[in-house]
Amino acid sequence: MANNTEDHLILLPHHIRIILMTPIIQTTNLKKTYGDVTAVDSITLSVRRGALYGLLGPNGSGKTTMIKMLTGQIRPTSGSAQVLGREVSTDPIWVRQQVGIIPEQETPPSFLTAMEYLDLVGSLRNLPDLRQRAEWWFDFLDFADKKNVLCKDLSRGTRQKLMLTQAFIHQPDLALIDEPLMNFDPIMQRKIKDFLVDYVKSGRTLFLSTHILAIAEEICSDFAILHKGNLLQTGTPKDLYDKGMSLDEFFLHLVGRNYA
Ligand SMILES: Nc1ncnc2c1ncn2[C@@H]1O[C@H](COP(=O)(O)OP(=O)(O)OP(=O)(O)O)[C@@H](O)[C@H]1O
Ligand SMILES: [Mg+2]
Repeated sequence: MANNTEDHLILLPHHIRIILMTPIIQTTNLKKTYGDVTAVDSITLSVRRGALYGLLGPNGSGKTTMIKMLTGQIRPTSGSAQVLGREVSTDPIWVRQQVGIIPEQETPPSFLTAMEYLDLVGSLRNLPDLRQRAEWWFDFLDFADKKNVLCKDLSRGTRQKLMLTQAFIHQPDLALIDEPLMNFDPIMQRKIKDFLVDYVKSGRTLFLSTHILAIAEEICSDFAILHKGNLLQTGTPKDLYDKGMSLDEFFLHLVGRNYA
């Protein structure tokens, strides 16, 4: 995916240029341990504005732990994480107010209807036009008939539609989404992939974890591969294309070599 942001920066005032050129996510030696387990091991990573960044890695490689640290849900053991220019462990509430988040395997509150849940999100996000925005999402993801159903009675895919809606309803500059396409059928996956690609075209940024390498290869502008908490590789699908390798082949080659 081409990035033309740099070409246009020269036309902008200096202070705006500095903001746009500052990585939207920057981690430095970011580390998280749980007792003897090192979930994330001193990772230094930069994500530019406008990227559709894919965080890849086998089960237990540290993807969810990274996203939790970047969204202030857990504190790092050491190192630093800056999101939108602020240190997350110093300003976790501010960061969560700005970004959109889909936590891994999270479901909406069982005792609220889909509409009630979005009303709650709308008041937290201070969205006076919440109902209008919600209607757009019900229509886009084709679940308007479920808006008054209690979340406990929604199918897994519909609950995931609601989680996607709450993450994007305030049109955040940055969304961090953990396995966003897992529970969707192929038609819905196509629709959401197109949405994600369009979303970053407006200069916004997405940081997503996925196991589905074909999706990462298709939509991501950049990727990072984690293994056992270590950053094995960063790159772009184009780098791989130039090497004549698919992301799948590259992943198996790289992770397979380090698998034990
Ligand atoms: N709360 C916790 N307590 C103890 N260990 C944890 C905790 N959370 C994560 N871990 C461990 O940290 C490591 C990384 O886990 P994490 O959930 O970040 O991996 P992941 O890449 O998201 O995996 P998956 O692809 O299965 O979702 C694993 O070894 C996991 O068991
Ligand atoms: Mg995970």
